Amino acid sequence: MTSPPLETAATTTPKIVVTGRIPESGVELLREVATVWNWTGDDPLPQDVRDAQLADAVAAVTLLPDRVDAVFLDAAPQLEIVANVAVGYNNIDVDECTARGVRVTNTPGVLTDATADLAMALVLAATRRLGEGERLIRSGSAWSWGMFMMLGTGLQGRRLGIVGLGGIGRALASRARAFGMEIVYHNRAAVDPVIERQLEARFVSLDELLATSDVVSLNCPYSTETHHLIDASTLAMMRPSAFLINTARGPIVDEAALVDALERGRLAGAGLDVFEHEPEVHPGLLELENVVLVPHLGSATVETRSAMAELAARNVVAHLRGERPPTPVNDP
Ligand code: DGY
Repeated sequence: MTSPPLETAATTTPKIVVTGRIPESGVELLREVATVWNWTGDDPLPQDVRDAQLADAVAAVTLLPDRVDAVFLDAAPQLEIVANVAVGYNNIDVDECTARGVRVTNTPGVLTDATADLAMALVLAATRRLGEGERLIRSGSAWSWGMFMMLGTGLQGRRLGIVGLGGIGRALASRARAFGMEIVYHNRAAVDPVIERQLEARFVSLDELLATSDVVSLNCPYSTETHHLIDASTLAMMRPSAFLINTARGPIVDEAALVDALERGRLAGAGLDVFEHEPEVHPGLLELENVVLVPHLGSATVETRSAMAELAARNVVAHLRGERPPTPVNDP
């Protein structure tokens, strides 16, 4: 058991709870305006410790594993703001926060490039069979160069279908264009024609995207609308030669249906950064050679994680100064 990992600044009010380790530059910004209590243990923050600390906190800086729900909020009667250190906020019950007058903020923008880089890396890793190749070398098995060894799929002239052309989807589109890919996308509504022209991207229905793309990348937020957007029926629309890439949120994909499609050769492969029951991974995925699996690394660069922590801190600081936070999610 780790010793109590507290940090308490000299001032007494207001109090900010930071539920896990974040880059120091973010904590420093918070310390300029408040007393900071930061759980820096390796184990998850125990709920009783968390609740005791939340009792007099006006702000909470939260991470993806935190569930900010009625139980969390009940423990925090003075809470005014929850600053999530992530662009996605499906770990937060925003309606409950709004009903209780609690501001919620996230960290859009600062992780766009890192996440798009990772999505492109998964496109390349899945289509060029990099995981399989790595495993072969590491297994110590004998091998030598072969004309027909581990042939992959080239990207030049292939169609990338992006589901969700927000910031990350757009950044992925420009990367994929540099690899000679053709871009189609599906959104609730078509984006500005200027952006479409810049990206040489064409709006299509979801059905057309699934039926005609060589690679489908999920870059939409997770919501009740996108839960299991990719399930047995939508997977059946995809080409057997197609690849699925998910750097958005795990539950957008019905993982059991994906395993089934891959096992039956209904899909060529997948690259996954996120999982339906994260951190659990469907055991069927672990058995498949044509799936590249990475542990939610989309925003995992030193620079990006610092920028995320700093943006979350700036949201809290602005709120405590009576200003509108730079990246609010709700307007309680
Ligand atoms: C986010 O910010 O939502 C990412 O998934 C975290 O890496």
